[in-house]
Amino acid sequence: MRPFAIVTGASSGIGYELAAICAREGYDLLIAADREVTSAANLLRAEGAAVEGLQVDLSTLDGVARLMAATGARSVDVLIANAGHGLGGYFIEQDFDEVRHVIDTNVTGTVDLVQQVARQMVAKGEGRILITGSIAGYIPGTFHAVYNASKAFVDSFCFALRAELKDTGVTVTCLMPGATETEFFERARMLDTKVGQSEKDDPADVAREGYDAMMKGHADIVSGWRNKVQTTLASVTPAGVLAERHRRMAEPGAGKASS
Ligand SMILES: NC(=O)c1ccc[n+]([C@@H]2O[C@H](COP(=O)([O-])OP(=O)(O)OC[C@H]3O[C@@H](n4cnc5c(N)ncnc54)[C@H](OP(=O)(O)O)[C@@H]3O)[C@@H](O)[C@H]2O)c1
Repeated sequence: MRPFAIVTGASSGIGYELAAICAREGYDLLIAADREVTSAANLLRAEGAAVEGLQVDLSTLDGVARLMAATGARSVDVLIANAGHGLGGYFIEQDFDEVRHVIDTNVTGTVDLVQQVARQMVAKGEGRILITGSIAGYIPGTFHAVYNASKAFVDSFCFALRAELKDTGVTVTCLMPGATETEFFERARMLDTKVGQSEKDDPADVAREGYDAMMKGHADIVSGWRNKVQTTLASVTPAGVLAERHRRMAEPGAGKASS
């Protein structure tokens, strides 16, 4: 029997790369994303895995229920809860439905899925969970306020859940990437910001660091040395200073003006 992994947000970016590593390491996969997943599933099958792709909006409880139903009777060895997205811009001008979709995807859908899978893993006494948080969780996100706040929730939740599940045989690892070259900034409409135009990390490198940390049962992994320095400094810098720094990186139009 090949082990079985669920990877959410696997249609592109970090999630796709995590799924590809799982496939190469011998896992069969259930992958999910809210847009088309057929091409990603086909590419992953070429790595030798049996892959089921599910197009589902994980911001809804119904979407998470559909994902759990697709799991069927299979025992989940690895859960990678990675689906998430941002929303750049001036908070008071944002459409509340879009704001809510960020919170419902990054927070509610993630927590719902993790709870359901963690219950099963604890019952069988083993399992590995990797949740994609972000170094954004350390920094008040001026012009990306709701996203950064959602990742502060996710980062904190991971550490707490890990402590609760100590001695159950189930490990929880928080992957905290910095700016990474994926579709994230386009989807968040942040391509005209400094961070949107900056040089970013390779999603394959980020995924490899996350996967290895999960397999070793580590608490967290901040990908890349620059991000490690940034998070270390952030933990001793006043929140107001961090918020002003974030303004420079995420202010709409600032990228164009400086390039
Ligand atoms: N890129 C960065 O700089 C960065 C930094 C730190 C943390 N992260 C986190 O890394 C994770 C992956 O993002 P990425 O950078 O790889 O961006 P990406 O290429 O845009 O991938 C995001 C994935 O999440 C899926 N997704 C988003 N909302 C969903 C929903 N409601 N239901 C189901 N699937 C949904 C997307 O599916 P569709 O494509 O089908 O919409 C896609 O597969 C996210 O949690 C993000 O917050 C990213």
